[in-house]
Amino acid sequence: MEKKPIVLSGIRPTGNLHLGNYFGAVKNFVKMQETNECYFFIADYHSLTTHPKPKDLQANVRQVLVEYLAAGLDPEKSTLYLQSDIPETTELYLFLNMNAYMGELQKVTTFKEKARKQPENINAGLLTYPSLMAADILIHRSHMVPVGKDQEQHLEMTRTFAKRFNRMYKTDLFPIPKAFNFGEQLVKIPGLDGSGKMGKSEGEGNAIFLNDDPKTLRKKVMRAVSDSGPTEMNQEKPEAIQNLFTLLDVVSKPDVVEYFNDQYNNCNIRYGDLKKQLAEDMIAFTEPFRERIIEISADQDYITKVMDMGAEKARISAQATTRLAREIIGFRKIY
Ligand code: TYM
Repeated sequence: MEKKPIVLSGIRPTGNLHLGNYFGAVKNFVKMQETNECYFFIADYHSLTTHPKPKDLQANVRQVLVEYLAAGLDPEKSTLYLQSDIPETTELYLFLNMNAYMGELQKVTTFKEKARKQPENINAGLLTYPSLMAADILIHRSHMVPVGKDQEQHLEMTRTFAKRFNRMYKTDLFPIPKAFNFGEQLVKIPGLDGSGKMGKSEGEGNAIFLNDDPKTLRKKVMRAVSDSGPTEMNQEKPEAIQNLFTLLDVVSKPDVVEYFNDQYNNCNIRYGDLKKQLAEDMIAFTEPFRERIIEISADQDYITKVMDMGAEKARISAQATTRLAREIIGFRKIY
């Protein structure tokens, strides 16, 4: 029997999932679990770079798991687990760090951004974030990694580290993994603040969460940044306006998008109408998630069972990899 491709991805437990997480990542996870061997995890080690309080960490981990399940991840089809339940990851992280160089780590865009945002806390975990992420991916010897565009550079580093290890030890232990999206390109969902991507830490009102109630959601969308409107027919859209259309594209029907595009091109557009429509389409889109989130969140036994089952399955695969890596590196076999 031919072996199925191995798929892995993860999300940091830093709050509720937003539409960027959904369209950039989770939507692909749900589809990929049908035909691949899948591992989807919650990156709690990674979240330590920002020093969360234990209580908040626990609550956020639980929420991401609930939202994974609410979005359609099936623990019978995918291995759903918590990163810290697989300490083998940290051993592989150490191995990879021995061949990860200061210069290349310091050049990573997310490191530079974080260092700028939190100058009082530029810790070693932040610098070596890409080697921990590579360890997550390589621990299951994964082939495909469904992620949004913002993770592209991290994936490039993983490929570099995997090739370097293979070359150094003259092995083919690690497949060279690829970032993946079902569309042609990796996705970047914009936020509501006029520039850049939708993100959890991009400021109040920038992100639409899967569990936002209709009132909150309407308020955020109505406050989204726009401008005073086009002055020439068929004018190119400025970033803030293009962002609203990109959001419309993912949640609204094609004829709705076409209607507002025509309005824009004819200089008749009323952004208030566009925002109202966008908010209603987002509410319709997120409603089924909200219902399932409430349902699943109430079932603690199920949540515990899913975590335990995932930890057990993920560990088998992780231990097989670290056992091989140890042997290849030249350590005494301990297993
Ligand atoms: P995180 O938690 O920031 O985001 C989780 C996933 O959501 C995607 N995403 C977006 N996609 C499109 N548009 C957006 N606005 C948007 N915002 C977020 C991200 O690309 C990501 O796929 N480093 C990772 C977590 C991680 C990981 C891994 C991922 C740790 N180890 C191994 C894959 C494989 C992160 O911080 O994602």
